[in-house]
Amino acid sequence: MTFNNLNLQLEAGIGMLTINRPKKLNALNKVTILELHQALKALDQDENVRVIVLTGSGDKAFVAGADISEFADFNVSEAAQLSREGQELLFDFAENLSTPIIAAINGFALGGGLELAMAAHIRVASSTACMGLPEVSLGVIPGYGGTQRLAQLVGKGRALQMITTAEMIDASKAEQWGLVNSVTAPEDLLSYCLSLAEKIKRNAPLAIAAAIEAVNANYKDDLNGYDVEITAFAKSFGTADFKEGTSAFLQKRKANFTGN
Ligand code: COA
Repeated sequence: MTFNNLNLQLEAGIGMLTINRPKKLNALNKVTILELHQALKALDQDENVRVIVLTGSGDKAFVAGADISEFADFNVSEAAQLSREGQELLFDFAENLSTPIIAAINGFALGGGLELAMAAHIRVASSTACMGLPEVSLGVIPGYGGTQRLAQLVGKGRALQMITTAEMIDASKAEQWGLVNSVTAPEDLLSYCLSLAEKIKRNAPLAIAAAIEAVNANYKDDLNGYDVEITAFAKSFGTADFKEGTSAFLQKRKANFTGN
């Protein structure tokens, strides 16, 4: 697949997806959101791809936000459509993907950029990264799930502090607050993310997909996470990979999972 604003590389079961608008600090315009949807969908459907690593091009930004130039003159109903479509196409879509996404936050992750990183399953930041939801400084609020996911990750008090002050936090505070899982030196960011991807790759893909579904269920009002877990747990017993994983353990050998 070829894209205008993304680079996609496939390597040994890992989809390396780079948002590529460095002159605009990788800001998410409409085309980029659509292309990210298409790329994530294609990677998720490719049974050879076990993990996705998502980053921004250049050394300055992961993503500096939604593209302000595209919505500056929107009215109320256009804004509602922008937010709803964006959430469906990209942010909710990414969070509910069966294939785990690791966000490699290589610089500014602001507004829609931080919202994108928060929709990923795992976040790792370079020590030079800065994160924030500065929307109120523009007279608007986060519209791609930021009010919800930030509070889930760092707690309501810290989320409201970040959102109302519009201030950025550095990587070390982001780690301390639980917004990112780890911080690395800039030159180690991708290799660390790839080492996490290698660990994930060793495990059973259907079980990983089921775990994502069950963990996400806690945050959905219409679902009981414990019930979703019971169903997903039981379903695993019907997979070939469960037979393989348990047999391999009993036979003291390495499991060879096929995703069936
Ligand atoms: N939307 C559209 N364009 C953006 C953008 C965004 N969110 N963020 C950066 N850009 C563009 C700038 O307009 C500039 O384009 P130009 O060279 O054509 O003028 C280019 O990217 C470089 O940004 P610049 O502001 O010159 O870089 P900087 O190093 O001085 O500042 C930031 C970096 C991230 C502090 C600054 O770009 C910024 O505040 N961006 C907006 C962040 C934001 O409010 N995001 C939430 C949006 S809802």
